[in-house]
Amino acid sequence: MQDKHYEVQNTRHAAYDINPIFLNRWSPRAFIDKQISDEILLSLFEAARWAPSASNLQPWRYIVAQTKEEKQLFAEFILPANTEWCLNASVLALLISHTPTPSGGVNGSHAFDAGTSWGYLALEATRQGLSAHAMAGFDRDKARNLLHIPQEYEVHAVIAIGYHGNTESLSERNLEREQPSNRRSAEESLYKGTFGAAWTD
Ligand SMILES: Cc1cc2nc3c(=O)[nH]c(=O)nc-3n(C[C@H](O)[C@H](O)[C@H](O)COP(=O)(O)O)c2cc1C
Repeated sequence: MQDKHYEVQNTRHAAYDINPIFLNRWSPRAFIDKQISDEILLSLFEAARWAPSASNLQPWRYIVAQTKEEKQLFAEFILPANTEWCLNASVLALLISHTPTPSGGVNGSHAFDAGTSWGYLALEATRQGLSAHAMAGFDRDKARNLLHIPQEYEVHAVIAIGYHGNTESLSERNLEREQPSNRRSAEESLYKGTFGAAWTD
């Protein structure tokens, strides 16, 4: 954990005053062989639980793989570029969301809300010295079939959760990528009043 914060302090700087947890969260690929207790694991999903959602529908669901057998099943639908590192994480969780509204319509916010819940989970993981790394590099249809996910759920991302470390487990390419990334400025993502109007002249 100390290492992680050290790296972050060297590579990430906020332009405005924010809680440091936003900088300390990043997505490593090296995990040590250490189990996450059920108490801690549940506390991450507890954080995810408190995400806001449209009409408080809480559309997110997580399918959690902890045992070797469960992780092997996940490995069948995750792309090799990700299985090469993510199987070392203690837990893999597939985030899906329930798409209908109670009245039979479509909840246009299900993906937005599921994304918020994953964000909460990742920040709580960081607070507790854990790392959570989301992945879209997997076969959604295969995941749906292998895990028996009904059609009214959309499949979003696999999340690797574990304790960071053990960089010797990484390929050369992933070792090079094993560092917190930067961002464009906040202003570059802002439009003033109407689409395309720059925030600053
Ligand atoms: C929805 C989503 C899908 C991602 N898919 C992958 C993936 O398949 N493999 C991977 O190694 N990283 C994946 N990432 C991690 C991103 O590359 C990473 O979050 C981004 O580069 C920013 O870096 P940071 O999370 O370390 O701040 C994904 C992240 C998100 C949010």
